Amino acid sequence: MKDTSLAEFTAENRPKYRIETYGCQMNAHESEKLAGLLEEAGFLKAKDGEEPDAIFFNTCCVREHAESRVFGNVGALVRKKEENPDLIIGVCGCMMQQKGVAEKFARRFEFVDIIFGTRDMHRLPEMLYAAAVLKERSVIVGEEDTIIEDLPVRRNSYPLSYVSIMQGCNNFCSYCIVPYVRGRERSREPEAVLGEVKGLARAGYKEVMLLGQNVNSYRPESGADFPELLSMIAEDTGIERIRFMTSHPKDAGEKLINTIKKHGNICKSLHLPMQSGSNAVLERMNRKYTRERYMELIERARDEIPGIFLSTDIIVGFPGETEKDFDDTLDMMEKIRFDAAYTFIYSKRTGTRAAGFEGQIDRAVKQRRIAELIDLQSAITYESNRAYIGRTERVLTEGTSKRDENECCGRTDSGKMVNFKGDKKPGDFADVRITDAKKTTLFGELV
Ligand code: SAH
Ligand code: SF4
Ligand code: F3S
Repeated sequence: MKDTSLAEFTAENRPKYRIETYGCQMNAHESEKLAGLLEEAGFLKAKDGEEPDAIFFNTCCVREHAESRVFGNVGALVRKKEENPDLIIGVCGCMMQQKGVAEKFARRFEFVDIIFGTRDMHRLPEMLYAAAVLKERSVIVGEEDTIIEDLPVRRNSYPLSYVSIMQGCNNFCSYCIVPYVRGRERSREPEAVLGEVKGLARAGYKEVMLLGQNVNSYRPESGADFPELLSMIAEDTGIERIRFMTSHPKDAGEKLINTIKKHGNICKSLHLPMQSGSNAVLERMNRKYTRERYMELIERARDEIPGIFLSTDIIVGFPGETEKDFDDTLDMMEKIRFDAAYTFIYSKRTGTRAAGFEGQIDRAVKQRRIAELIDLQSAITYESNRAYIGRTERVLTEGTSKRDENECCGRTDSGKMVNFKGDKKPGDFADVRITDAKKTTLFGELV
């Protein structure tokens, strides 16, 4: 008889997985945990073109577009499941956590084996067992806000890494579904975060991105605040670059700016979602700041840290947004001149307060407004890119450029993507003189 000891458990005969991730960095990081759990269960990541034995969809529901893609892509798997009934199909993440959605989804897609919400990932081993051995389906959507430490993580982005410092959101911006699907805010203890970042630095990671829906409301039971956590990470872990997102303008202030300024290894950049430049709209969005207060914050950041990279998120077509309100947004964009801006068309989310607001805006109007906003911002981003020409920047190499395999690509401290000729490896820092700039990328040469 053939010996089936562990030695026979080779890369060839191990089952393979594929994960499709939608949504934000938080989800990207959770997919790394999903991958970690799958690898502990014996799975290996499927190579490009290789047929997987398990397919997972980690979903997002922040806008309608993300949701419809999930429906389409999961629906398309019905054939594959008919051809191979042993194929395990799993769907998880924010969309499954919406009221009633998991049940509806389960009914519509009977061939999906595993469904779970944003707080149930740690139960994956039992769900896999049920699917693979018992041939039973699992639908698990918990409601309890917990933090599960020590899940295995299969990282996917060397030399960059993600570390979650908190979960959930308490802000209830009136348009946003996130607080409903991610639950209330809860923060990891500083020791746990520091331990993780130290481990990453020791393993050779160069950059960490600290994640939370609103990092400024980081409040672990032991009492530290976010700037204090930042300082500890900057001083005690040995990591070379620290980034974080997202900062809510209502609680970003002097202490945060001073902390960024003080430490050489905290990147000089700040992502500060403005959402709208109109006070009336900000009020209805429940953002809890005004355009004046937002402007003050930007001015303070630039006074204290000249050249700081500033980016933002903007929503157009929020219910009741008038031409005047929209002009106020354009006006703020022109005055502030963000280095980058992510622009979104308002998407009505069932269960949020704004879904019931009067004055939902016509699709054509929304389209026109976003086109105008994108035009304005592209010109400003281009100008911000051109300003780098002639400077020498410290670039962290991430890989080879998409355009040319002999070219390296990496990011400046501020976060701009640079392509340059050379033989640097991922994780190498390089001093690069910027010689040209296009709309999305800078070009340079090693000095
Ligand atoms: N917690 C972060 C980001 C959350 S989602 C923050 O508060 O900044 C990322 C972005 O998606 C938001 O900043 C917002 O601009 C956008 N967004 C959220 N809900 C939306 C909706 N219903 N329609 C359109 N854009 C939305
Ligand atoms: Fe959504 Fe507002 Fe929370 Fe950000 S702060 S996740 S926009 S509710
Ligand atoms: Fe992120 Fe989308 Fe959920 S933006 S928090 S994955 S709804």
